[in-house]
Amino acid sequence: MDKNFNIVLCGFMGCGKTTLGQQLASLTGREFIDTDAYIEGKTGLTINEIFAKYGEDYFRALEKKCISKVAQKSNCIIATGGGTVLDKDNVLSLKSNGKIFFLDVPFDVICHRVYRCTNRPLAQNLDKSNLKKLFNTRQKIYKACADFTVNATQP
Ligand code: S3P
Repeated sequence: MDKNFNIVLCGFMGCGKTTLGQQLASLTGREFIDTDAYIEGKTGLTINEIFAKYGEDYFRALEKKCISKVAQKSNCIIATGGGTVLDKDNVLSLKSNGKIFFLDVPFDVICHRVYRCTNRPLAQNLDKSNLKKLFNTRQKIYKACADFTVNATQP
């Protein structure tokens, strides 16, 4: 792999992908791409609006298009959405020129950050037990796709 491979951050909503990605980008001088922000920029709609108007499947299609574009770049820090790596094609694209880092944060910390969070359509309608179920299901997927797992509990 080219030494200018992309650094790709994955993990559950609220694990700090955007915050850490911005910090890494400013430390290293690499370009920072947040896939949710990219989609919002292209559509002129917020993620909430896309979910509300067109539904999750439509959002996933936009996300896939975005990943296929940004994965071709080099030397970037890419913060994905919490559901991006659930799609195997997205993982393959991201790995073609990147290493995936999973930001592992315990559920209690995540819950504190995202429970009933109004700008996260998947989190805002879930009670704690369903949020935990979603978290548990996804942990395995994040671990399986990641090249590296980082304990990211500290903000
Ligand atoms: C999602 C997470 C969100 C955003 C969308 C779907 C998910 O990104 O992509 O609301 O499926 O977990 P963050 O992880 O940045 O909140």
